[in-house]
Amino acid sequence: MEVLVAGAHGQVGQHVTELLADSDHGVRGMVRSEEQVGDIEALGAEAVVADLTESVAHAVEGCDAVVFAAGSGGEAVWEVDRGGAIRLIEAAEDAGADRFVMLSSMGAGDPESGPEALREYLRAKAEADERLRESNLTYTIVRPGELTDEDGTGRIRTAASLDPSDGDVPRVDVAQTLVAAIPAEATHGVTFELLAGDEPIAEAVTSPLGE
Ligand SMILES: NC(=O)c1ccc[n+]([C@@H]2O[C@H](COP(=O)([O-])OP(=O)(O)OC[C@H]3O[C@@H](n4cnc5c(N)ncnc54)[C@H](OP(=O)(O)O)[C@@H]3O)[C@@H](O)[C@H]2O)c1
Repeated sequence: MEVLVAGAHGQVGQHVTELLADSDHGVRGMVRSEEQVGDIEALGAEAVVADLTESVAHAVEGCDAVVFAAGSGGEAVWEVDRGGAIRLIEAAEDAGADRFVMLSSMGAGDPESGPEALREYLRAKAEADERLRESNLTYTIVRPGELTDEDGTGRIRTAASLDPSDGDVPRVDVAQTLVAAIPAEATHGVTFELLAGDEPIAEAVTSPLGE
């Protein structure tokens, strides 16, 4: 498959891009600055310059799948986390890219119960996730807890709902889960939360998980 990675220069996105470049998939890394093109090419991917707050049609053209690993960092949640994601979902529909793997967030299933400081962000992510579920795309929505820069273990815990105070998860393991989910039919049409755990990622994505 030809896979577009949105947020390819981000911390999770760079892991995703590198993993895809080392796989049988073709990978196109989306960045919003010409200055980041060389970094994406150094990871072994093709680069495309596009901003999620503007047109993204050219970025997804010719792709079979999208991994959305972009994020506002809390600054522009409605423009990027909601609006940018929905723009890319609609561009994927228009381009005939069937597969869409969304990096969402633990708590997006119930924003009003989240911490006050995160509530606006979680509402924006919830609306983007809802638009994806209503799309005609084959989606997977992955909702990790707190991300860390620890070394990956290759092992995770997944469920429809997990306790956010019950752990965290290395970015590299989140990236591996996003990539492993692409062909894994058990994740198609599924939303699940994710923390570090004991189950090898390759096994977790082939067994029933989430909702
Ligand atoms: N932090 C956590 O504990 C946590 C927990 C659960 C879920 N998440 C989700 O995981 C996501 C990824 O995390 P991360 O640590 O990899 O974040 P990150 O390093 O901040 O990466 C986000 C990427 O999104 C890109 N981006 C932002 N606005 C854009 C736009 N308008 N158009 C195109 N690209 C844009 C950024 O581009 P630039 O390089 O140009 O800035 C950056 O490369 C977060 O955004 C969040 O939604 C985070």
